[in-house]
Amino acid sequence: MSVLDNPPPRPRPVYLNLVAIRLPIAGIASILHRVSGAALFLFALPLMLLAVQASLASPESFAALKAAFAHPLAKLTAIGVVWACLHHFCAGIRYLLIDLHVGDDLAPAQRSGAMVIAVSLALTLIVGLRLW
Ligand code: HEM
Repeated sequence: MSVLDNPPPRPRPVYLNLVAIRLPIAGIASILHRVSGAALFLFALPLMLLAVQASLASPESFAALKAAFAHPLAKLTAIGVVWACLHHFCAGIRYLLIDLHVGDDLAPAQRSGAMVIAVSLALTLIVGLRLW
């Protein structure tokens, strides 16, 4: 067999310019699922455990926690945590459905990716307005 029968593969193009990469909406939902999962593990869980501990330790620490939550920065952090929970939950349900081959074609997967982003943002807005 000559090399002409089995030519070496052409070098594949490599796009490492993150600004040039145009992710489809399902790809953005997927990246946000990873970001929100990491944020839940690294920030939300420790912060929520600290808050539960402070709220139960004594009436004084509960009052201090309540006062701290009145600060806009604390409210913004809480809204970020709420978004991470909601996005991760909605995207998680989408992945579980896709694992069951529900909506795993290109067009429905793009639609459900957009829906996950929109629904989690809308729910975050509702919770955020009540929190503020
Ligand atoms: C404190 C709660 C949670 C934490 C810290 C967490 C964290 C994570 C992390 C770090 C990943 C890996 C993401 C990646 O590397 O792409 C992940 C994946 C996943 N999570 Fe969660 N998660 C939580 C709750 C949930 C819930 C409630 C659901 C169900 C709705 C869920 C569904 C999933 C699914 C389906 C995947 C796999 C996605 C895939 O196939 O790529 N998670 N989670």
